[in-house]
Amino acid sequence: MFKRLKNCHNVQDMRALAKQRLPGPIFHYIDGAADDELTYRRNTAAFDDCDLVPNVLAGVETVDMSTTVMGQKIDMPIYCAPTALQRLFHPEGERAVGKAATKYGTMFGVSSLATVSVEEISEIAPGPKMFQFYFHKDRGLNDALMQRAKDAKFNVLALTVDTITGGNRERDLHTGFTSPPRLTLSSMISFATHPMWAWNFYTKPKFDMPHLSGHVSEGTNLAVSVGEYFSTMLDQSMNWKDAEKLCRDWDGEFALKGIMSVEDAKRAVDIGCTGIMVSNHGGRQLDGSRAPFDQLAEICDAVGDKIDVICEGGIQRGTHVLKALSVGAKACSGGRMYLYALSAAGQAGVEKVLGNLRTEIERDMKLMGVTSLDQLSRDNLRYR
Ligand code: LAC
Repeated sequence: MFKRLKNCHNVQDMRALAKQRLPGPIFHYIDGAADDELTYRRNTAAFDDCDLVPNVLAGVETVDMSTTVMGQKIDMPIYCAPTALQRLFHPEGERAVGKAATKYGTMFGVSSLATVSVEEISEIAPGPKMFQFYFHKDRGLNDALMQRAKDAKFNVLALTVDTITGGNRERDLHTGFTSPPRLTLSSMISFATHPMWAWNFYTKPKFDMPHLSGHVSEGTNLAVSVGEYFSTMLDQSMNWKDAEKLCRDWDGEFALKGIMSVEDAKRAVDIGCTGIMVSNHGGRQLDGSRAPFDQLAEICDAVGDKIDVICEGGIQRGTHVLKALSVGAKACSGGRMYLYALSAAGQAGVEKVLGNLRTEIERDMKLMGVTSLDQLSRDNLRYR
């Protein structure tokens, strides 16, 4: 059955619409993950092993779902995690996501591998913003990235620490996905069967990666896979000293994105971070690694009173957000949930998915008998 935006009531509906709209290689780049995709599936399934226990008769006619994360007051406890290459999914790319997030009063992230510049984003999306930093071998590029994010008044810098080499994304190997898309016989067939996407891609402003141009040809002129980019461009010698120096140089709200162990969470506190994203990069890197929700309790127990812990990955429902917050996360973030929506319908799609989540969170808070997020606790949860 063909889907329309107005019939998209949840993230899976958006996924189905995105699948309709995008050429196969592009859809599978978003949707796919590493190896056998065990971790990708577990990221969402982990929430099913934990049940909510509601209280009733609590007087819940008005609920407040705002929270403050890394110094940013946001109107809902989930934000759009930084993701790369958005121009491939919709001609408006990061502009659409920034405008939708701003409208919903939540934060959004812009990747080093974004297709719209931090300067432009800052003009059009005045709300709280995070810049996602990749540590390249090219120190000149690293310095330029940080300076541009500072000058554009981004509020948070998140250093990604789980992409030290490329994950094995077998769907991309099967489809031959590259960025920008390489014209091969099979990609031309998939573009021809998605003429709207092809029209938008080839007639609207040219694909560009403004944070990289002038520094590297990869990702701008040469078609490369993301795995290849990580493996060749990023600095595999990156260590805690480098992270500490970046944190000091940024001199503001600073997070490590992709922390999974208690030991690393404690070290993040020691080097001066104000946040960590408990994340496995959407299952796109180390398959077989634990799901963020499964790992959340021990991390919150160790550092939850010293640093903002964000649960990132697998979130598709308001109840997932409430479960993560009950364990001790300050907020949640997600990538695919809004990328499907961006691909399906641009800004209107992202607004719809954020609106759906907002409605769900509000309804679920009422059904849980809470009027503010700080009333959620582990007393509300039982594990099977
Ligand atoms: C990915 C990177 C670019 O997972 O974040 O594809």
